[in-house]
Amino acid sequence: MNLLQKNLSKLTCACLLSLGSQGLFAQQTVVKLHADQPSGTISKHIYGHFAEHLGRCIYDGFYVGENSSIPNTAGVRNDIIAALKNLNIPNLRWPGGCFADRYHWKDGVGPKEQRPSIVNTMWGGVTEDNSFGTHDFLNMCKLLGTEAYLAGNTGSGTVQELADWVQYVNFEGKSPMSDLRVKNGQTKPWNVKFWGVGNEAWGCGGNMTPEYYVGEYRRYATFMEGRNLFKIASGANVDDYHWTETLMKGIPLQMMDGIALHHYSFPSWEKKGPATGFTEQQYFETMKTALRMEELITKHTAIMNKYDPKKKIALVVDEWGGWFEVEKGTNPGFLYQQNTMRDAMIAGVTLNIFNNHSDRVKIANLAQCINVLQAVILTNKEKMLLSPTYHVMEMYKVHQDATLLPVEVKTDDYVFGQEKLPSVSVSASKNAGGLTHVSVVNINSSKTEEIEIDVNGAKFRNVSGRILSSSKIDDHNTFEKPDYIKAVSFKGAVLKDGKLKVKLPPFSLAVLELN
Ligand code: AHR
Repeated sequence: MNLLQKNLSKLTCACLLSLGSQGLFAQQTVVKLHADQPSGTISKHIYGHFAEHLGRCIYDGFYVGENSSIPNTAGVRNDIIAALKNLNIPNLRWPGGCFADRYHWKDGVGPKEQRPSIVNTMWGGVTEDNSFGTHDFLNMCKLLGTEAYLAGNTGSGTVQELADWVQYVNFEGKSPMSDLRVKNGQTKPWNVKFWGVGNEAWGCGGNMTPEYYVGEYRRYATFMEGRNLFKIASGANVDDYHWTETLMKGIPLQMMDGIALHHYSFPSWEKKGPATGFTEQQYFETMKTALRMEELITKHTAIMNKYDPKKKIALVVDEWGGWFEVEKGTNPGFLYQQNTMRDAMIAGVTLNIFNNHSDRVKIANLAQCINVLQAVILTNKEKMLLSPTYHVMEMYKVHQDATLLPVEVKTDDYVFGQEKLPSVSVSASKNAGGLTHVSVVNINSSKTEEIEIDVNGAKFRNVSGRILSSSKIDDHNTFEKPDYIKAVSFKGAVLKDGKLKVKLPPFSLAVLELN
């Protein structure tokens, strides 16, 4: 090889290397958006929330009492009502969680000064005065414009007690329970549709075997009488497929409407790590557990399909979200944690998974709404902040009751050590007004993703959108800087030659609107 050839070959190598990092060999994410294949409705109930008598979720969260100096309506903070109304929350699950199987609803009705105090043995061992009970919750749901999802006690309660609760809440005519309701100030029934038949029956709800719970479910559900009830069986813990199989086999389809599934995200169950100041490894592991939702839904659905091919029974993921160590100095039983961009990533990918499985997943509930686990709102006395997760929920609300548009994603990898995860997650829908929305998440901690979305012949003329991003993965809002992270207008998406090109910074999420 002469000198000229040598130099030419060096140049070629250099060019290829530089092109490799910039484009020619760069792995790119390619998405096919099947705008021409509308595929059923994304139930708005996928965007549900959860409020347990746990820590400062109800007391000192939603509810500060009628005499509080914090502006309130019937004891519920007005700032919280306004913030949650802005999310269009479709349903709110109450009173637990594990608390539900320890809760006796009759303790929480009637004149407040006559209600007995109880000890919340499940969470923190604190005494509560029952000043927030059935009327308080159901009237709060009215204020929020949301449907109630009541979790019944099948652990320490009785069949009669739960049957009475259904009658108290829903019966229009004259009966012992509806008379009591009227006496307690509520003439009209609330007509609550969603009822949980116990919670985590495999654990805090009674440590039952699935075979035993099937019998319990059938007994309780038989006496939960009324029109249009949507009964949800206590479902599997994560990958307990035997639980789902046993319930599907043992409970007649006409006796239930949904089966629950609980799955949380964390670096590991034993070592959850801090909510802020976590390592990249802890971030990666958390995203791994969050993305596992895809596998869990696919496998539970496959079992359900065997017994219910027409998809009558909903998969109800009524507890999901990030679970980390509590903030220093707070009660370990209160599960109070900060909420960072990592939580926003959990929410973004999980909601995309739910959207894409909306033929089976019809209801889901983020755990939990205020001051507990992956909260959308944190409070400190009169102060309140909206977490990054709040902003994700607000951005994604466009998918509620919209028509799913299927996507095929060939994504770049997020590599950490010997392992890799898909960097990009996508879901899309078209709303009643004809607008198409695409939610795109890049979980990669260090790489901007260049995403090409082939809109498959759809003739879009305009694209706009908003992005949630920050400079550090554990960035979060504080009571001093409550707006540090919020959604802003996004300029990184362009329509060109019938394709949508998106540049998404590391650990960020955008929702695009196309018309
Ligand atoms: O959300 C906190 C707890 O997690 C719930 O009470 C329980 O159902 C689950 O184990």
